[in-house]
Amino acid sequence: MALVGPPPLLDTNPFVALIGDLREERSATVPFPPGETLFSLARTKRFADDPLPLLLESYDRFGPVFTLRLFHGNVVFMLGPAANHYITVSHASNFTWRESHFRDLIGLMGDGLLTIDGDFHRRSRLAMLPGFHRERIAASVDVMVTETSHALDRLTPGTQVDLYAWTRRLALRVAMRALFGLDPDGAVARSVDAAGLFEQALSFYSSDYALRMLRGPFTPWARLQQAARSLDRLIYSEISSRRGSGERGEDILSLLLDAHDEDGSTLTDVQIRDEVMTLMFAGHDTTTSTVAFMFYELARHPQIVSRLLAEQDIELKDGRPSAAQLMSGELGELEMVLDETLRKYPPAWIGPRRSVEPFEFEGHTIPGRAFVNYCSWASHNLPEVFEEPSQFRPERFTEEAKAALPKGAYVPFGGGSRTCIGMRFGQLEIRTIATLLLTRFTLSLPEDFQLTIRQMPTISPKGGLPMIVHPRTATPVSGLAAVA
Ligand code: HEM
Repeated sequence: MALVGPPPLLDTNPFVALIGDLREERSATVPFPPGETLFSLARTKRFADDPLPLLLESYDRFGPVFTLRLFHGNVVFMLGPAANHYITVSHASNFTWRESHFRDLIGLMGDGLLTIDGDFHRRSRLAMLPGFHRERIAASVDVMVTETSHALDRLTPGTQVDLYAWTRRLALRVAMRALFGLDPDGAVARSVDAAGLFEQALSFYSSDYALRMLRGPFTPWARLQQAARSLDRLIYSEISSRRGSGERGEDILSLLLDAHDEDGSTLTDVQIRDEVMTLMFAGHDTTTSTVAFMFYELARHPQIVSRLLAEQDIELKDGRPSAAQLMSGELGELEMVLDETLRKYPPAWIGPRRSVEPFEFEGHTIPGRAFVNYCSWASHNLPEVFEEPSQFRPERFTEEAKAALPKGAYVPFGGGSRTCIGMRFGQLEIRTIATLLLTRFTLSLPEDFQLTIRQMPTISPKGGLPMIVHPRTATPVSGLAAVA
């Protein structure tokens, strides 16, 4: 069967989509779960600005499945381990991503893996999986170490850095080189500020719902499109130069250029662009947030930093990690810090879906064609699953404690057939950045810093993360240790 494209793009006129949503809501054949179903601008704004407390309060009032009217329509939330498992694994085929309330993301990513469903999703995923096999990912360690070491060379003790912006630039360079074999210092890439353009494009998703409906010049949509077109130039120029030269490497772009169906037809430039844009977005934004939240928590828990440094002193040879150590996650203290960071701050915090058929869950009916979300962020903050969830406690993730977690309790990478395809790549990158950073510097927060979190559409520290750079007590050499 052919790698045929997805169904036509949804109507990009948001007013038409809105009327369609209302019609479908009215024609629901079963009632929505209990909740707040009257229109409220205040609730809509609260959800956009600070969704976690609203979701946790609603969970306390209505239980694990409830409805909130957000902007124009009802949105169902299903929280907790059983709900996560239901949506991502046991009943995944009753949900689509493409028509979820995150469908606006199609405006940036087109029809890449994240925004497609069904057989096309399955086939596209199969075509891309070899790019994420262990050996391919292992080949990226050198790029990650080199790029991180260079980025660290630019940090100076005694100065302040926006760790979020620093990591975003670094993660994009890694994504460009390791995933697409694209030279970030080449002429085309240098003429494009990819990090700034992603920032500009993604800011659309944090603007007010009402503003997002507008089209035409000077609207958030126009700024999104402008940024996307500039990023397109970078991607299309690489596609065309690779097609022209026939040059291939170990990267995913090479894989996509050579992917073909049983009838021999290949992917179009637009299809490749959409996958590349999706991976560039998903492959750098989430890792950036995780590194930022991790160092925010470390700065507030010096005793955890001491444990990490003691682990480095014992485990690292000549103060440098080996590729095997980074790949395997055998630095146990760091691994628990990473797991706990992704519990407290899962960057891809919401799993947006639309139901296909009506269904029942925990005694409530949910209509077909309803917007339904699972939410790792809220699920990871339920006290009956994670005691005192607001506390940052890496020891929740000892091997034994992890094995004892109920199915669906911990889902920072989603689950089932849509589990994050870049999970190993992302974990490796975060380990590499964190390990190398800790071998050279200690970071602290400015005294008056207060963390607020924005979603756009992943969660990250609002306004960036200012951190003060200090030298580590003893500074080891950078780079990889030789494998013994
Ligand atoms: C800490 C790092 C990361 C986290 C926490 C994360 C989280 C997630 C989650 C939760 C999903 C599923 C969303 C859903 O169910 O709707 C997902 C999907 C995806 N992620 Fe990641 N991600 C990370 C890193 C990466 C990286 C590095 C890449 C690419 C290199 C990537 C590419 C993707 C793609 C393409 C999908 C869609 C998969 C599909 O639908 O088949 N992610 N990610």
